[in-house]
Amino acid sequence: MWSSSVQTGSELSIAGITAKQLAKDFGTPAFFIDEADFYARAAAWNTALQQSFGPHAGTVYYAAKAFICTEVARWIKDVGIGIDVCTGGELSVALAGGIDPAKIELHGNNKSVAEIEKAVASGVGTIVIDSLYEIQRVATAAATANKVQRVLLRLTPGIEAHTHESIATAHEDVKFGFSIASGAAWDAIAAVSAHSSLELRGFHAHIGSQIFGYESFELSAQRLIGLLARYRDEFKKELPELDLGGGYGIAYLPGDAAVVPAEAMQALSAAVEKNCNTHGLAIPTISIEPGRAIAGPTMFTLYEVGTVKDVTLENGSHRRYISVDGGMSDNIRPSLYGAEYTTVLANRTSTAQNVSSRLVGKHCETGDIVIREIDLPDDIIPGDLLAVPATGAYGRSMASNYNHVPRPPVVAVKDGKARVIVRRETEDDLRMLDI
Ligand code: LLP
Repeated sequence: MWSSSVQTGSELSIAGITAKQLAKDFGTPAFFIDEADFYARAAAWNTALQQSFGPHAGTVYYAAKAFICTEVARWIKDVGIGIDVCTGGELSVALAGGIDPAKIELHGNNKSVAEIEKAVASGVGTIVIDSLYEIQRVATAAATANKVQRVLLRLTPGIEAHTHESIATAHEDVKFGFSIASGAAWDAIAAVSAHSSLELRGFHAHIGSQIFGYESFELSAQRLIGLLARYRDEFKKELPELDLGGGYGIAYLPGDAAVVPAEAMQALSAAVEKNCNTHGLAIPTISIEPGRAIAGPTMFTLYEVGTVKDVTLENGSHRRYISVDGGMSDNIRPSLYGAEYTTVLANRTSTAQNVSSRLVGKHCETGDIVIREIDLPDDIIPGDLLAVPATGAYGRSMASNYNHVPRPPVVAVKDGKARVIVRRETEDDLRMLDI
């Protein structure tokens, strides 16, 4: 839930700096990212992939959509892993961070021709193709640039992963990929094979996000390998790569489990080996795309309390509303997915008894809730600081300017030093596009 250098218990600190000091130096609301923890998590997935798959280990592609900025792209480069981008915008940040284009993979169900051309021109290692139109578009872009582009086909393995409906991606009724069951995947294979400017390397699947247990991942591998075997039977050669996507779950609340990289990769490796043996296939190189599992636990959001209000409910009971200086513009996940978070008082300790409270933001909307129900000390007052852990993935990256609220900064903290890596937006920034 918390990153490794966060200390709670008394006054909250990260990498030796107290929350009070951080609020004084950088203001609130703000995201604080534990730099060493980010490196460690990225490296742990890389080590797990290497150790479990040995010579068959492909690339860990960090899913940029979880959170990206130029400095984090540099960290990814330093760790030596790759990156998965799904727009021209994410691609431009990855390139600005100096990531080797060969270690970049481009995704998306509706990449524009301009995005495809930019990716081909930049030398992006892999483009993951999502539709028949796109086969033609990538083939044309590559042929025009006089290149042969390596591609994977995104497949829909037909799996009901157990997660929120909006973030499950591998059942049949989705916009992503080519269905294996319907035969669309086979048609796509034939279509790709007709283009000399495309080199089909293998298949990709991403079954969803915030997934626990390995069965769905194993089933996805099994279905993709089944298709590799059919390809071998038909074309008399084997495809060398599989990318099994991201989706590994993290802890948000006390007592939540988190997927352990080494365990997940060992389970996946056993499933890949077993299914390849069944079909008499050579083991392909295996890549993965964790986003949340790398970025999520590395950040917390620090808010300042602005008001505390007790409301009498219809049944006569009370609800305490604690309002902070951010809300749905810096964390849309509670209102969008019903995501649950926790918080702690960060600037002091309290011995007051707990009262049932609701943590809300400053937006003009009842649904602007950070935490629907949580026990917090009775003596919380305006000016207190509250820290919400595990906001690193899909927090800042999904932030908006709703109500013309400037988006918070991201501050990297390491070894007792803190520095801004994404600055706070200003009201001038908000008016910058207005004509
Ligand atoms: N690869 C592909 C092709 C993806 O679409 C995604 C996430 C990932 C990898 C990374 O998944 P992760 O390891 O982070 O679970 N906004 C939602 C999550 C949407 C995920 C979209 N795709 C949320 O806040 O929960």
